[in-house]
Amino acid sequence: MNNFYQNNFLKLSDFSKEDIYKLIRISKKLKYDKKNSKEKKKLSNKNIILIFEKNSTRTRCSFEIACFDQGAHVTFLSIKDSHMIYKESLKDSARILGQMYDGIQYRGNYQKDIEIIAKYAGVPVWNGLTNEFHPTQILADLLTITEFLENKKLDQIKISYIGDINNNISFSLIEAAIIIGFKLYLISPKKIKSNNIYYQNIIRKIKNIENIHITKNISEGIKNTDFIYTDIWISMGVTESLQMWEKKIEELYNYQVNKSLLLKSKNKNVKVMHCLPALHLYEHYKYLLNKDIISKYNLYNGIEITDEIFESNYSIIFKQAKNKIHTIKAIIISTLLKELY
Ligand code: CP
Ligand code: NVA
Repeated sequence: MNNFYQNNFLKLSDFSKEDIYKLIRISKKLKYDKKNSKEKKKLSNKNIILIFEKNSTRTRCSFEIACFDQGAHVTFLSIKDSHMIYKESLKDSARILGQMYDGIQYRGNYQKDIEIIAKYAGVPVWNGLTNEFHPTQILADLLTITEFLENKKLDQIKISYIGDINNNISFSLIEAAIIIGFKLYLISPKKIKSNNIYYQNIIRKIKNIENIHITKNISEGIKNTDFIYTDIWISMGVTESLQMWEKKIEELYNYQVNKSLLLKSKNKNVKVMHCLPALHLYEHYKYLLNKDIISKYNLYNGIEITDEIFESNYSIIFKQAKNKIHTIKAIIISTLLKELY
């Protein structure tokens, strides 16, 4: 029996290095099979529900395509159109939906909520993003990274994550670095927050780990790196206002991914990553941000990443997005099927 069968996928630290490598291998096979029209539908008798409390483009579409490719039936449920959380407790909703469906994807605010759903659903629950973690994203990122490795193994690379180091991407990356052992530099003028139990556990762990470094020194964090990763400076679920944006920009404008930052890597093969959505195009973000803020910090070429770098050959951003289909499919198949191949 495969060891993922009937398990949840809530956060990376629930898995071993061997588990993560295995999921990457399964994703690669699924990607190959799809590309070569060899995919077999193994989930044709399965019903899957995708519950969203927050917006999504890539994760929702990847789950839907993964299910359709495998013949599963999908229900999309937006929390605001349902009774969940407001008139019905998560515990009740989980017990109801767990009887109807074979698997549940949840994207919501709090990790503790998805843990409640997983406790009561009785079927596999997959984390499509919470404030604390975004494990399906990082699995797709790891697959993408393996596709660009030259003369190094996954556990030998250096990843430099720059910008907002207190979000779901940075914390899932930290979990991945703890498990896999690659070097991770988190570059920001801010310290790591310890405002909840999940973060506290991680901070406790990384105190004794040599491969994870937190620094505000950009040169130190970027030098000889293989992959530069950034994310939007204000995540979903954080109260967004123009004042908040001004505060973030004031903190982080020196930590933008741009040409001069890439030069500091001294690696002409460095690759740039972003989970998306990204604020790189002035014509787009001028409607979101106050023009005075943009002008004050001269951010006409991008916020967390410049358009030049986003669109350059250094960027593997669109590969990351596409790979979500394959890794999410690997997670669904591995947790729903007793025997894999
Ligand atoms: N990267 C990612 O999770 O994108 P969505 O928010 O569009 O799902
Ligand atoms: N940190 C971002 C990731 C989006 C995929 C957010 O939570 O909004």
